[in-house]
Amino acid sequence: MKLTLATHPILAAWMLSLTATAANDSDSPTLPLSTDSAFNFQLLITLGDAITGGADIGPVLGAAKNIIPGDFSSFSEQFYALANDTKAQAADPENAYDGINVRETWFSASQYFRRADILLHNDWDNPLLTSLWAEQTAAFDAAIAALPIPGQRVRFPATKGSFTIDAIWYAASASPDAKLPTLVIGNGFDAAQEDSYHYFVASALARGWNCITYEGPGQPTIRREQELGFIPDWENVVTPVVDYVLSEKANVVDENRLALVGNSFGGYLAARAVAFESRISAAVLVDGVWDLYAGYSAQLTPDIRAIYEAGNYSQFDQELLSLRAAGKLSSDAAWGVDYGLWAFNTHSPSDFFDQTKKYQLESVVSQINVPVFVGSAQFENIFPGQPQQVKDALGDKATLYLFNGTAGYHCQTAAGQEMTRAVFAWLNKTL
Ligand SMILES: *[C@@H]1O[C@H](CO)[C@@H](O)[C@H](O)[C@H]1NC(C)=O
Ligand SMILES: *[C@@H]1O[C@H](CO)[C@@H](O)[C@H](O)[C@H]1NC(C)=O
Ligand SMILES: *[C@@H]1O[C@H](CO)[C@@H](O)[C@H](O)[C@H]1NC(C)=O
Ligand SMILES: *[C@@H]1O[C@H](CO)[C@@H](O)[C@H](O)[C@H]1NC(C)=O
Repeated sequence: MKLTLATHPILAAWMLSLTATAANDSDSPTLPLSTDSAFNFQLLITLGDAITGGADIGPVLGAAKNIIPGDFSSFSEQFYALANDTKAQAADPENAYDGINVRETWFSASQYFRRADILLHNDWDNPLLTSLWAEQTAAFDAAIAALPIPGQRVRFPATKGSFTIDAIWYAASASPDAKLPTLVIGNGFDAAQEDSYHYFVASALARGWNCITYEGPGQPTIRREQELGFIPDWENVVTPVVDYVLSEKANVVDENRLALVGNSFGGYLAARAVAFESRISAAVLVDGVWDLYAGYSAQLTPDIRAIYEAGNYSQFDQELLSLRAAGKLSSDAAWGVDYGLWAFNTHSPSDFFDQTKKYQLESVVSQINVPVFVGSAQFENIFPGQPQQVKDALGDKATLYLFNGTAGYHCQTAAGQEMTRAVFAWLNKTL
């Protein structure tokens, strides 16, 4: 079997990047922060959050300097040390003299604890998966308590399915009866609702939009606390969130300007939900995803994919897991296997791929009846071409927006200003 150990440095760290792409820094739109493309992407995520107070640039570049390419533990340890250090600064009573100090230090500490966690999902029993998550949650809660209007954690049961949804409500105004436009924000494969604060919430609040972020099955806190992997019928996650907003927050939400945002694989989940949830007024897909299996299975080399497609699941599982155990996968591929199995709550790669087949828009796309922003990224590596498929299926209901050049990574990572400017300009024009 032919395996390429290094993937293209601009290709974001998503799935089983076993495809033959040569590393070539000169093709990258940004200066690579690691020769390891998975690490480069994680470092871009971290730096990208600096614009909303979720990281500091020198300390992140300092951690990056000491990380050994390919060594997941070194990545985790550097961010754990930086998180500890930032937490100690946050906890210093003199630091807490004002809300800005408090939220900057705690938001950054929270983000560094999440980065310390992200590459550790090979071993589900690693106690750090629990302890780092408790740290990121506590740090984040300290930060949102110090916002001018504190964020409010809420939990409510799903109406269909036995799980509980975790959400955070952020009001844009202290007025008890100002009806404001509102974003309902969800992530995809690996990001947490705490990340959503930096991706969308901070820039939305600044523009006078309320926000609610949420997590459903498969997403970091629900996966840990309720031991549930992803579910395809995502309307059963979004509908209870909309119920909550339109009942509990009815006085401050403009029900004619209620937009659903989906980030990354969340671009699929949000589109699926809006096909069933008629109270949403517009959807924002960052970026458009048409078919999860098509995207993920294209990351496999043709020979290993053939084993799966021939139905020899035991051989497929054994081959992929032994490559992983022998350290023969690129960091992108290794992380994709580790994280995908964990998030879909299965130890079997073939079961994972079987599950991904349930996530395709074709069967429900005709039920979408609202305006849709379909983001598309020049350097999209997992779902290339899929935003165009979403646009084609939606026709005039969709606006396809190409993020090009340095904003062209998966989800416009590290170009958050350019991404949110485009999204809010479209929302302003559309609603
Ligand atoms: C990298 O890409 C550049 C521009 O596309 C090309 O000139 C160069 O030869 C490539 N280098 C390698 C090592 O492939
Ligand atoms: C971070 O602090 C914890 C104690 O809170 C300690 O157990 C851990 O070893 C520290 N990690 C690093 C990398 O310094
Ligand atoms: C599946 O793969 C195993 C291991 O290569 C092989 O022994 C077995 O015959 C295959 N089964 C089928 C049905 O192809
Ligand atoms: C995207 O950027 C590339 C490189 O800068 C450029 O060649 C191309 O024309 C751009 N495409 C669009 C649609 O702007």
